[in-house]
Amino acid sequence: MHVAIIMDGNGRWARERGLPRSAGHRAGADVVRTIVETAAAERVDVLTLYAFSSDNWSRPAREVSALMRLLGHYLEREVEGCRENGVRLNVIGRRDRLGPELQGAIERAERRTAACRRLLLRLAVDYSARDAIVMAAAGLGNGPTDRAAFERRLAEVTHSVQSVGAVDLLIRTGGELRLSDFLLWECAYAELVFSPTYWPDYTAREFRAALAAFRARDRRFGGLSTRDRPRALAV
Ligand code: FPP
Repeated sequence: MHVAIIMDGNGRWARERGLPRSAGHRAGADVVRTIVETAAAERVDVLTLYAFSSDNWSRPAREVSALMRLLGHYLEREVEGCRENGVRLNVIGRRDRLGPELQGAIERAERRTAACRRLLLRLAVDYSARDAIVMAAAGLGNGPTDRAAFERRLAEVTHSVQSVGAVDLLIRTGGELRLSDFLLWECAYAELVFSPTYWPDYTAREFRAALAAFRARDRRFGGLSTRDRPRALAV
């Protein structure tokens, strides 16, 4: 099962407390650990978290550098715990605009956890789904292609360690109802769960409730519900 999360609401969480936005991101980074642990316990195979979109470069330089530092620290602080718990780390998105220290931290974290198989944790950093689709399409050439081949290209151009395929469940916290250029191809048939909770307040309990809601849904992928399917087709 592939779960993706848009971790929104850090800024509003901080503002309501009279704190700088970076304090909201720091509080948000602490929640990441809880949600990763819960995902592993709930047998999620792939968890993709939207940590920094390509459009986030337009934020004030101070906020951008605070977020970049936070990501580097997160990778360095969590890498051994991830390794011990079977969590493979992977950063997807563009790497060429990241600072050399962060690039180094990413490479070390990916190398150190490369053999882990319990959960693949993908952090999307300098990520834009539209840019990824354009880059993947540009590299295909004129030969025949299919969705699987396109997905392999998408994985390559975004530095994904494997072609993880479709998102099953997309969660967005913070009350906004939009996709914000996140995994647009992969979310074709994703089930969507929107939560009003700001990300720093998001809990394992609410995450489990989203997983339970997902499991109760009737996924049809454009076909018939299992309830309405003729018996002969159901076997
Ligand atoms: C959106 O909140 C959140 C971000 C742009 C960054 C997400 C980053 C983290 C949760 C922390 C770092 C991540 C890891 C993996 C260590 P916003 O600032 O847009 O909030 P707002 O909509 O309330 O202003």
